[in-house]
Amino acid sequence: MHDFNYKHNNLYCEAVSIEKLAEKYGTPLYVYSRNTLISHYRKIKEAFGSISPLICYSMKANSNLSICKALVKEGAGLDIVSGGELYRALKAGVSPKKIVYAGVGKTEKEIETAIKRRISFFNVESIPELRLINKVAGTLGTQQKVAIRINPDVKAKTHKYITTGHGENKFGIDFETAGKIFLERARYKNLNISGIHMHIGSQIVDSEPFIKAMKRVVGFIKYLETHGAEIRWLNIGGGLGIIYSKERPQTAKEYASAILPILKKIKANIIMEPGRFIVGNAGVMVTRVQYIKETPSKNFAIVDAGMNDLIRPSLYGAYHEILPVRSHSYLNSKDVRVFDVVGPICESGDFLGKDRKFVGLKEGDLLSVMGIGAYGSSMASNYNSRLRASGVMVDGSKVKLIRRRETYEDLIRAEL
Ligand code: LLP
Repeated sequence: MHDFNYKHNNLYCEAVSIEKLAEKYGTPLYVYSRNTLISHYRKIKEAFGSISPLICYSMKANSNLSICKALVKEGAGLDIVSGGELYRALKAGVSPKKIVYAGVGKTEKEIETAIKRRISFFNVESIPELRLINKVAGTLGTQQKVAIRINPDVKAKTHKYITTGHGENKFGIDFETAGKIFLERARYKNLNISGIHMHIGSQIVDSEPFIKAMKRVVGFIKYLETHGAEIRWLNIGGGLGIIYSKERPQTAKEYASAILPILKKIKANIIMEPGRFIVGNAGVMVTRVQYIKETPSKNFAIVDAGMNDLIRPSLYGAYHEILPVRSHSYLNSKDVRVFDVVGPICESGDFLGKDRKFVGLKEGDLLSVMGIGAYGSSMASNYNSRLRASGVMVDGSKVKLIRRRETYEDLIRAEL
């Protein structure tokens, strides 16, 4: 599953002791395993080997340059959602032909830059956006490929903030409107409307919503083809769930065997945009217990990482396993105590885990918050004027600093 394992009661990332990393680089610290990252990318690639899709890693999950570069080197494309992500994607050295651009609010400037940089596709989310891309492409004297993002109106059975393919979500275009766009595509002279995109949500653990959505979309593609519109590309999005606690998500192979028979009914080339599946289990956040605070109602382990470093528990009530870096499992189990693991931020919502059991936990101990590779550092902020943490990537016994800790000067750099 991942490369974070205990050796003689000490947590390691690949061949490197996490305790040593914390001593050298300080805490909080994001630690990534290169092997876990790459092996998850390969799992998808192999599961879909029979159709060789273009796998565009969804860089919103973790847009650190070294992480993107490692995947680009493996052959991945990138799924972007902003001018900032385009900037990072190009810095990561991806070929623009492997960039797809989604998002409901692309600005004219962002569209212009992306067209000039010759990205592959815009995944278009509304008619006004389609008109704007057509206009900008015309001004630049070029033809731009676009895919229409369909909202297939399925419930994805995940947290309500991260479903995107239900009728009431802001994403995508309903079938009827999309049908009209394709049939009237000649109106958009500067566009090559040749693809369909869908993405129904994130952290989806069973294949059923994917199957349902894909059947609808494939049926729609057939309908369009009988009306003379050729669909050359189908982008099936991301959304594959991972294990945070007791979920049993479909594996890449199970996902592939569930949907390949549907995808093989059409001729379109397949693009996919997994984020979490690739990077989620490849990272942990190491934090040090600052204080143990006992109150009449609770024990708190106050650590040096907070909701600014990992917002998922506060924002979605997400569960992340929290392990002691030095395992105390050999101690007498009478020493088990229950703690809320909380950060230093001035909000009651600033917690990393609630009611967690530890043996002999004390001030100065290191904890490892698991599964933070996706939507961990990429959602970090400077709230409470806290410095964003550093990150390292481990490759066997080698360690590379991939983001330095911010300084106080960084905090005010953009202020006038
Ligand atoms: N493609 C599109 C168009 C997306 O909007 C997303 C994620 C992905 C691909 C990648 O989805 P993934 O394979 O990672 O599930 N911050 C939330 C997750 C938000 C996902 C947003 N869109 C979280 O921490 O759970």
